[in-house]
Amino acid sequence: MGMTDLRVNLSGVELKNPLIPASGTFGFGREFLPYYDLNLLGAISVKGTTGEPRFGNPTPRIAECPAGMLNSVGLQNPGAQAVAKEELPALRQVYTGPIIANISGFSEEEYVRCVERLTGQEQVAILEINISCPNVRHGGMAFGTDPEAAARITRAVKRVATRPVYMKLSPNVTDIVAIARACAEAGADGLSLINTLLGMRIDLQRRRPVLANTYGGYSGPGIFPVALRMVHQVTGAVDIPVIGMGGVTTARDVIEMMMAGAKAVQIGAANLVNPMACPEILAALPGEMEKLGIRALSEIERVPVN
Ligand code: FUM
Repeated sequence: MGMTDLRVNLSGVELKNPLIPASGTFGFGREFLPYYDLNLLGAISVKGTTGEPRFGNPTPRIAECPAGMLNSVGLQNPGAQAVAKEELPALRQVYTGPIIANISGFSEEEYVRCVERLTGQEQVAILEINISCPNVRHGGMAFGTDPEAAARITRAVKRVATRPVYMKLSPNVTDIVAIARACAEAGADGLSLINTLLGMRIDLQRRRPVLANTYGGYSGPGIFPVALRMVHQVTGAVDIPVIGMGGVTTARDVIEMMMAGAKAVQIGAANLVNPMACPEILAALPGEMEKLGIRALSEIERVPVN
């Protein structure tokens, strides 16, 4: 077991293992301090940050489903200034690893402003640009469902970024490869995929949508095969590294995601079901690697198409 090598590399950023709590499922890290030492994580992707503070959407904004959940949080966050001045310094007190700053916006200017505010922060190793939030009317997913808009945001952000830029893609498109290619050609250093799948539940008694916002993003184990397929398609089409996510729940899921072509893996909804999800997956990883004869995660090769 001691012989397994869990290290991975994202655009020159060394991670001691590929496990990263996904944005929006881990707050700004401190929320998980009662459960475990955050320093065992490969990196942390913090809650999506916008230029101004946001209260988010009205409640209810969570609906449970048999194989996952819907959320319509609506980018609740304290704003870039408070994230830079309060949240990230507080996280730094308890965690010394790489931080992934997740950035959202309602206009090109807002993305740029947010990146300018966060790119120089100590420990921010990667900028993850969310062009895939399904829960806001303007901006968000609108930028991630059109190749030209995705390229425009990528270019604008790259002009001011001093850290590798990973564009976070939406699965709510006909052809995710077209969006991935547009981002890569516009200079993205990497990609994160997938964000949530747009969904809905109805309250049968009230005959109304469960979510106050009507629709929300579906995440959890039910979306894993969709995420895997999209990661495999994208990694077959672009040369930049991909962080894979979407329903990853077990150590075997992590390995499967890396066999689909991902260089690192984010854990999202699983954190909300079991706050110990990440350490438990990490503990199981060496044993599962040994069973498969994998010595180093970085040596996993993307499986070919049949
Ligand atoms: O806060 C949010 O609604 C974020 C959603 C997303 O990007 O998936």
